[in-house]
Amino acid sequence: MKVCIVGASGKLGQYMVQHALERGDEVVGVCREQSVGKLERFKDRISIVPGRTNDREVIRRAVAGCEGVLTVLVPWGVQQYASGTAQAVLDFAEPGARLVFSCGWHITKDGKDVYSRKFLWAVAAFGWLARALRLVDIDDQVAACKRIFASDTRWTVVRGSDLEEGPSQGLPVWSQHVGDDILRSNRTRRIDFALFMVEALTNDGLIHEAPAIVGCQTASALAHHASSCEH
Ligand SMILES: NC(=O)c1ccc[n+]([C@@H]2O[C@H](COP(=O)([O-])OP(=O)(O)OC[C@H]3O[C@@H](n4cnc5c(N)ncnc54)[C@H](OP(=O)(O)O)[C@@H]3O)[C@@H](O)[C@H]2O)c1
Repeated sequence: MKVCIVGASGKLGQYMVQHALERGDEVVGVCREQSVGKLERFKDRISIVPGRTNDREVIRRAVAGCEGVLTVLVPWGVQQYASGTAQAVLDFAEPGARLVFSCGWHITKDGKDVYSRKFLWAVAAFGWLARALRLVDIDDQVAACKRIFASDTRWTVVRGSDLEEGPSQGLPVWSQHVGDDILRSNRTRRIDFALFMVEALTNDGLIHEAPAIVGCQTASALAHHASSCEH
């Protein structure tokens, strides 16, 4: 499968490149010009389109001919970075392509997620501080996801829990709503978040879903699935 990875140089992006290459996919990576060096170890095995991910011309070139597009949605700055990125992918991806986007648990598709007070407080405090410093605009990631949810493309929005580094534990488990018991541990290895994103490309059961994920070896996941993780 020819796959475009938008935001390939970040931590999640690099893990996605690694998983996609291991599956035998042909990879096109998009990252900012100054970050191309972060993809040095892959340079002979992938093609790179340098540029900002909300640059429509960059995305138009990068997604051409791709059957799958994996997009890291990050709310950097206050210039509609996430929503501009998402809109360009929605507009220029090949008809019928599988589109998989990353975000956090704070995104809700149907308003039925149940958040702890601590979680809501943390999102509000982080959002206020980041906006005040003009570093991050969480509302723009929300706007980006609204556009995706309203789209008739073949999308999936993967909602990551708190993340940690470490070796892979296998494919995370997921649920439709934050607040479900299986997600209580709120912890996923970043490498496995990336694995879930890549696997979603070929899982049509995830089309038009916004799975909230958690590590398959966390206590809350094991309490619901006695069996071990899928690899
Ligand atoms: N961090 C968490 O705990 C957490 C929790 C839940 C969900 N998530 C989700 O996981 C995904 C990846 O998050 P991550 O924290 O692991 O980050 P990450 O993978 O390291 O990605 C950060 C991305 O932002 C880009 N970036 C950095 N500074 C930028 C700037 N000033 N302007 C434009 N782009 C900039 C990076 O590109 P360069 O390589 O060019 O710098 C990179 O592509 C996101 O969708 C996030 O919502 C994260």
